[in-house]
Amino acid sequence: MKHILVELERRRDQARLGGGVKRIEAQHKRGKLTARERIEILLDEGSFEEFDMYVEHRCTEFGMEGSEVAGDGVVTGWGTVNGRIVYVFAKDFTVFGGSLSETHAQKICKIQDMALKARAPVIGLFDAGGARIQEGVAALGGYGEVFKRNVIASGVIPQISLIMGPCAGGDVYSPSMTDFIFMVRDTSYMFVTGPDVVKTVTNEIVTAEELGGASVHCTKSSVADGSFENDVEALLQMRRLIDFLPMNNRSDLPELPFHHGADEIDMSLDTLVPDNPNKPYDMKELILKVVDEGDFFEIQQNHAKNILCGFARMEGRTVGIVANQPIVLAGVLDIDASKKAARFVRFCDCFNIPIVTFVDVPGFLPGTVQEYGGLIKHGAKLLFAYSQATVPLITVITRKAYGGAYDVMASKHVGGDINYAWPTAEIAVMGAKGAVEVLYRSELGDAEKIAQRTKDYQDRFANPFVAAERGYIDEVIMPHSTRKRVTRALRLLRNKQQDMPWKKHDNIPL
Ligand code: HXC
Repeated sequence: MKHILVELERRRDQARLGGGVKRIEAQHKRGKLTARERIEILLDEGSFEEFDMYVEHRCTEFGMEGSEVAGDGVVTGWGTVNGRIVYVFAKDFTVFGGSLSETHAQKICKIQDMALKARAPVIGLFDAGGARIQEGVAALGGYGEVFKRNVIASGVIPQISLIMGPCAGGDVYSPSMTDFIFMVRDTSYMFVTGPDVVKTVTNEIVTAEELGGASVHCTKSSVADGSFENDVEALLQMRRLIDFLPMNNRSDLPELPFHHGADEIDMSLDTLVPDNPNKPYDMKELILKVVDEGDFFEIQQNHAKNILCGFARMEGRTVGIVANQPIVLAGVLDIDASKKAARFVRFCDCFNIPIVTFVDVPGFLPGTVQEYGGLIKHGAKLLFAYSQATVPLITVITRKAYGGAYDVMASKHVGGDINYAWPTAEIAVMGAKGAVEVLYRSELGDAEKIAQRTKDYQDRFANPFVAAERGYIDEVIMPHSTRKRVTRALRLLRNKQQDMPWKKHDNIPL
């Protein structure tokens, strides 16, 4: 019996070595951890249970016979993050560059199937060179199987991708269909085709970083939702993110202890909005003062900074925060901001996370760049997302809520459950200056008259009371009481039920 146990340990040790000591050293030299080291940091100590450690490829072409490595380039299994179950797969770059073979794909599919059955999140750690070139269509088929499962699980269990090395070819499309993609700065990059192919096809000369590094995907392309300094920070931040998320679309929100009194008032909020309506202020200050312990996990922090999206907690329960950011482009809604917030709102709605929206928006951004870029269609995404959301929607207008953007930003009309406004709110079709220029064009030469008209418009509309008179605003609240009001509203709506008519699925303007 003993020799059998010894043999098991030997096989395990061999499998744990992946591509061997030399390749592990090379991985470390590049500032990267191995797949198993990453899993150890991601999961609670000792909680990882590995599956399919002995799976090997079955390819016999292009010299592959006899090159089998136990595990075949991906480490799979499950474990816990602060006691809550997650399924994990981590590409092992030391084995055939983490490339995907038929059997490698089967291992990932097994994790996806098990996670879906158990209704638990899946986290994928990527560090791979795409399809196993020697396997041809068998690898392509494997990708297809993974993609289909990503889509079936979408909206049922959270799926998170962390890119920690190369992520090329087929490897990019599975992450892109998960809920969130995060990257490690300087060591990870994502692209469909690499710099060499780009040069051949388009004559462009770019580095991997310029083509698909974190600096590109977290700012320009918005493919990724955030980036971190190194492997360790990225993995610890994934643990933090998991703490915010429910296990599935029917499970309760996680509830964590909190120390920030729900009734606490913050007098500094009474002076947050400057007297001059054209002067910006930092909306993040409001968020940090209102949510539990100022803990805010921001999504797409460096893309479309004119809108803020992220997770926080109120009374220990997760909320999604969406807020216009007046210090960037005056908080205007443009194409990027609309797409960013729409996707976030839809994620929250999938997983029953209430949404708190802070509004200070001068409208949609005018201009040919925006119109040619399809502002109508992209702005509609956010309008669609809010209108379709059945989770509790709580809205606080701090200052401007102009034009179509007033409607879009979780107004009463599109489904806001509790709509508050600060006394500084200005709810109107547009700002006074613009309104007067349209209404009194013939008087534009007369500065005195125009000044009076502007003042009249401002006096009438630059306040929350016209909307409150109609019941579009439920209450005009003191800024200092915002945390108390919002937590009470969330409590009130905890059992909200709202049904939409049956449909196969909607047709959001993509
Ligand atoms: C088989 C691969 C591989 C692959 C890397 N390797 N990619 N083996 N199939 N796709 C192997 C290498 O041969 C090497 O083996 C080891 O992994 C490490 O690779 P290196 O090239 O030495 O590492 P590095 O210099 O860091 O470069 C990493 C890389 C590069 C940028 C990922 O390897 C690369 O460009 N690979 C090919 C990428 C690619 O074109 N993939 C196919 C995409 S098409 P040894 O034994 O020497 O250590 C695709 C289609 C799917 O994915 C579409 C589905 C929709």
